[in-house]
Formats: sequence, structure tokens, C-alpha cells
Amino acid sequence: MPARITAPRGTRDLLPEEAPRWEHVEATARELARRYAFERIETPLFERVELFARGLGESSDAVEKEMFRVGGARGSDEERAEWALRPEPTAGIVRAYVEHGMHVRPGPLRLTTIGPMFRYDRPQAGRYRQFTQWDVEVIGDPGPAVDAELVELAHRFYRDVGLADVRARINSIGDATCRPAYREALISYFSAHAPRLTDDSRRRLQVNPLRVLDDRLLDPELAAGAPKSVDYLCDACRAHFAAVLAILDGLGLAYEVDHRLVRGLDYYTRTSFEFYAAGRGGQQDALGGGGRYDGLVELLGGPPTPGIGFGIGIDRTVLAVEAGGVEPPVGAPLVAVVGASDDLVGRLRVATALRDAGLAVRSDGSTRKLGRQLESASKAGARWAVIVGDGERLALKDMASGVQRDEVTVDEVIGLV
Ligand code: HAM
Repeated sequence: MPARITAPRGTRDLLPEEAPRWEHVEATARELARRYAFERIETPLFERVELFARGLGESSDAVEKEMFRVGGARGSDEERAEWALRPEPTAGIVRAYVEHGMHVRPGPLRLTTIGPMFRYDRPQAGRYRQFTQWDVEVIGDPGPAVDAELVELAHRFYRDVGLADVRARINSIGDATCRPAYREALISYFSAHAPRLTDDSRRRLQVNPLRVLDDRLLDPELAAGAPKSVDYLCDACRAHFAAVLAILDGLGLAYEVDHRLVRGLDYYTRTSFEFYAAGRGGQQDALGGGGRYDGLVELLGGPPTPGIGFGIGIDRTVLAVEAGGVEPPVGAPLVAVVGASDDLVGRLRVATALRDAGLAVRSDGSTRKLGRQLESASKAGARWAVIVGDGERLALKDMASGVQRDEVTVDEVIGLV
């Protein structure tokens, strides 16, 4: 027998039995996107490496360590150097915004997408090489109200999927005016403690000291004593952050200010936030995260335009929903059409009529004995069986109670199930 081929490491198959929970989470995201007036956008799953290098930053983990490079069938090294599967959607969406001159549209633009992202990381629980995000972006709105609105939206999403204890952590990491002084403060603080840093952090310290705070292996004591971005904010950033928090307070939303939260991508400015299930803390546990990126549109060749958004990890949310024992809503009852005769056309005609009425219908296409067909229907989870006899005479069987009604019409079936 030929050897079996298995799924790539760090990927998962979504099997039918897991689908209802997954669908519940995705449907909640889509419904909220509709109610919050986001419009759908789709961008390619692969883009130029240059887009991510410039947008997310050369020294971000996503670019430096986790780029999922791709090339053609006979792909050369040059090709692989040029293309990568998207590690996140924001850079691609902003690329599209600039490319299509979307700044001339009446703004702010509210865009949303759900789809797979790829990071060639070391797989572990909740960390995959292919994962799905629900992403929302608001481009052209300087805030602060929209900052709070997005935190509220994410909050509502977690509540609606059944995760009532998810908390927002929020911070402000300043902007081009005040970040340089904060960077300097971090460089001097961590340089003084260089021996306690990981090799990675020591290497990145001069280039991107914020990354050091984001190092999963950073000594917690060292982290606690590090300079806080909020102490370095310029007046405009401080006022913005205070206004965001005041609006969250006004909405009665619980959050925690987290001075260590710097986010892993370089495009962030000012408001940054992440979402965690209560009692979970580690960076890998974030159920979602986002923030403001007021310099990104310009960095990618567009006019100066503020932006803010978030990405919610659907995989991690589904895992949390499962761990919390939240049952997905029950779908429409299944109807099985089975045959007491060999009239296969009749069965499919009846099935079609029931499907036209919106019912979920499996039609048995076999000529097995009726008893065997009913057995299969029961195993498949059918709530009702419609038995088609000669001349398309119908009987309806309640599979739970076993009670059968003979001589019913299609319309009666539709009314009864
Ligand atoms: P991010 O924090 O890198 O932000 O990812 C957002 C969420 O995606 C994480 O909180 C996590 O739930 C999920 N996630 C990330 N990596 C993995 C992985 N390897 N396996 C499973 N889930 C994962 C962004 O991607 C930004 N684009 C968010 C954003 C939008 N900021 C502004 N607009």
C-alpha cells in the first residue's frame, strides 16, 4: 500500500463535526460586520515580500522569521524572494486602498474580510502556520471615537459567540513625534541590562527596541521595570489616549491598561489593544488584537491618512468557545427522502420540492430495502423521513418517536416538519 500523505505541519482540517461551531463564530463576525456597516474587501493571498517588509517592518517576527515564501513550479530563488503568502491582511488592504485611489471615496472607509493567513512559525497549541482571521479596518478616521467603537465591536463579538469573560488590554505607543524619545529610553534601559536579554532581543535592540518588550522570553522583572510608552507621549497622543479611555468608560466597557503591550508589527501608532480570555496572559493566547496605523497609508505611497483596525483569530476563538463548552445553535432539522419503490425520479422530485421550501434534505439514491434506507437516514441524523411510494404517494415518519403519517402531500410535509 502506498504511504499515506498527511496534512502539512501547523495546519488543520475542518471536519464536518466541527463545522457548526466554526460557522457560528464566522456567522457572528459577518453579522456584526453588517450591523457595524463594514463593506467586504478581498485581496490576494500572496503579495510582494516588499509590501510586508515595508508595512509590517523588516524586524517584525512575521517578516524576519515567519515569511511563507512562494514561487512557481520551477520557482527560482529570485521568485521566492519576491512573493510570500500573507501573514496578515492589513498591509494588502492598505495596498489596495492606495492602488485604487480609494481615498477619493467618501470616507471614512470601513472594510472587512475573513480569510486564511500564513506564518511559517513553529506550530504549537493555538499557533498554526495557516490560520483564519476576521479583520476590520477603518481608513480615514482619526478617532478617538472609532478607536473605542472597535474595542466595543470586538467585545460584543466575543460576548455573542459565548465568551463573556474576554477582556481588552489597551495601551498607547505614541506616534512619529514622541516615539523617538521612547525608543531612546528603551535602548538605554535595555542596554544597561543587555546580559539578561535573549540573543534575539540583543540583536534587535538598536534597530527596534519595542520588539524587545514583545519578546516572549523577556525576563518579567526586567519587563516590569522598563520605561512605559505612556510616560513619553506627546500632548496630542496623550489627549487622544485619554479620550479613547474616557469613551470606553462612558460605554461602561471593562478594559485594562497594559503598559507592556506594544504589538508585534511596526505599523502601529497610538492606540493598541489585544483581547484575552480571563486568566490567560501569554502573547500566544491573544484572541485578537489591533490598533491604529496612522502612518501606513503614506508609507505605502498614499496620501497621509489615519487608519485603525483589528484582527480576530477565528481558530483561537473556536478553541475557546469549545473549551468553554458553548454549544453552537442547532441547525435546521434534517429530512431524509427514502423510497418504498424503485422510483428514483419520484424521490428526487420530492426532494427538490422540499428543498425549494428551504428544508435540508438528503435523498437516498439506492434501491436497498426500505428498512435499510431508514436505518441509514437515522444514522445520518435525520429528524424526519419522507417515504416515497408508487405514484409519489408520501408518508412522513418522525424518526424520534417512530410515529408515521400516511397519505400526506408535499405541502403537508412542509407544514409539519
Ligand atoms: P496580530 O496580533 O498579528 O494582528 O494577529 C491577530 C490575531 O490573529 C491574534 O490575536 C491571534 O488571535 C491570531 N493569530 C495570529 N497568529 C496566529 C497563528 N500563528 N495561529 C493562530 N492564530 C493566530 C494582525 O494580524 C493585525 N493585522 C491586526 C490589525 C488589523 N491591526 C490593525 N488592523
